[in-house]
Amino acid sequence: MSFSFSKEAIDDLKSQIDIVDVVGRSVQLKRAGANYKGNCPFHNEKTPSFVVSPQKQIYTCFGCGASGNAISFVMQYYNLAFNEAVEKLAGEYGITLQKNTRNDDREKYYEINREAARFFYKSLTESKNPGYTYMQKRGISDQIIKKFGLGYADGNWDSLYKHFKAKGVSEKLLVELGLLSEKDGRYYDKFRDRVIFPIINTSGKVIGFGGRALSNEVMPKYLNSPENKVFQKKNNLYALNITRQDVGKEGHAIIVEGYMDVISLYQNGVRNVAASLGTALTENQAKLINRYTKNIVLSYDADAAGQKAALRGIDVLRQENCKVKVLHVTDGKDPDEFIKKNGREAFVNLVNNAMPYIDYKLEAYKKGLNLATEEGKLDYMKRITQVLKELGPVEADLYIKKIAKNIGIAEGAIKMEISGDNIETKEIPRPALRPDNDEMPLDISSLEATLLKCIFTEPHLVEQMLGQEEIFRGYLSKKIINIIYELYGLYNDFNVGQVNDRLEPKESEELELALDKVVVCGNADEVLNDCINSWQINSLQRQERKLLNMLSLADEETNDDSVRELTIKLMEIQNKIKVFGGNK
Ligand code: UTP
Ligand code: MN
Repeated sequence: MSFSFSKEAIDDLKSQIDIVDVVGRSVQLKRAGANYKGNCPFHNEKTPSFVVSPQKQIYTCFGCGASGNAISFVMQYYNLAFNEAVEKLAGEYGITLQKNTRNDDREKYYEINREAARFFYKSLTESKNPGYTYMQKRGISDQIIKKFGLGYADGNWDSLYKHFKAKGVSEKLLVELGLLSEKDGRYYDKFRDRVIFPIINTSGKVIGFGGRALSNEVMPKYLNSPENKVFQKKNNLYALNITRQDVGKEGHAIIVEGYMDVISLYQNGVRNVAASLGTALTENQAKLINRYTKNIVLSYDADAAGQKAALRGIDVLRQENCKVKVLHVTDGKDPDEFIKKNGREAFVNLVNNAMPYIDYKLEAYKKGLNLATEEGKLDYMKRITQVLKELGPVEADLYIKKIAKNIGIAEGAIKMEISGDNIETKEIPRPALRPDNDEMPLDISSLEATLLKCIFTEPHLVEQMLGQEEIFRGYLSKKIINIIYELYGLYNDFNVGQVNDRLEPKESEELELALDKVVVCGNADEVLNDCINSWQINSLQRQERKLLNMLSLADEETNDDSVRELTIKLMEIQNKIKVFGGNK
């Protein structure tokens, strides 16, 4: 599933293809001196400002700023990941690429995991034990225990260790898989006195385990296998190995947070479910579910953390072109509690009435704002313009009407807000958002660093960033803010250490450096708001400069209509700058 190409293979590909040919397949190009010119495929234009250089093997659009090489063109044009673009090009040009193949000794790991799962299952089912009593207390049937291969790890510290020792399996492997822990040269079972949920991928391999404590006092509540050669949490959805046929049958998938949600829904007859296991949905999880359906219903916990995870999940799924709805559990804290209390019919009813993601976002973005005030309305508008811009004209029109009525703003004003903003955001469609090997520049701007520092000082301030994500421009700072959203979504809290854990060493070094450089004087809340405000003014001023440039060119070409249009836009922007307190 995941692989990469060697640097040599990429260079080889680059040397065999010609950018003029690659671009020329999708854009009509005309020779212009040493270069070729055409209408830019990334923004609307009538006079060509898109230039391709055969010498430099790059393209640039002077209209919208798009630029890159042949591979990034294919990525951007067809909306592909780096590897996908490379494969497509190689396929079209009949070039065979060497993939970096890992020497595969995974089978050995899978086999050990399978044996451990078998061992836990026997402990749960073959004699009386606290794990079985716990399962019964939670209403889990024997049938479900069998279907999901649930198990029990007893409290003896060495039951599993002895079992594997007798089979001659090395401690090293068991530690690597997270089945054993080691301290001062002594080994002991990692999972103790917990019920066990084996995690099985869609190829039927046991890749890891989750173990739940039998009482709510024991921490952590769930202990999971560490990331290792065969277990990457971010690549899997729990139970999809069992439920994917049901997903296909129903035509949609319900994604929940936890092991118990899946099991409980399944037992109660709602079978088209899978769990993202407490992380906000990742890109790979979205790609995985995409193989079975594009229709997703997110059913996260009713708490604030669940809401945040839903918001993040929506974005990730939308990136993969999924149709997303959000289900709000109305009774109990999670789907497990709901269906136990209210039964299958009631839950199916919730599914059928799940909110389209746009409605969900429009609702969620109201959080923390007082829409009765001018300020609140303005902030709300800022938060939702991005959502509205994603819509087609008809849909946008419907929602604009709805919002106008709902918060008492003229429809025209909302439309203006959206189109005004367009100039800025269309400006840089960045092909380089996805990491292109390890050539991504990792710089964090001082504005980004200051914002991050404020957020790390006062984690709740992250809520003020909601809807303002565009401030983060760099690859690394985008990644960081997304991690922060995810952590905050999960735990309502986070710190630098947790973020660093999820970064590459080089990246966390960069983060530490950037944070060291900024000093936040005084109240983090105020500093953050000042930053956001001045960013807004800046970006408006950029739009202003751009419009002034365009006006000067339009003058030369004496096109009255466009001069008038640009002048109106310019006045709108200048007014907004005043509203935000810019000195204009
Ligand atoms: P929840 O705390 O919502 O647990 O975490 P739950 O699924 O409702 O479990 P029960 O009903 O209390 O038994 C949701 C998911 O987050 C992950 C687990 O995957 C869990 O199912 N999680 C939670 C952990 O990995 N570790 C934890 O300590 C807590
Ligand atoms: Mn629960």
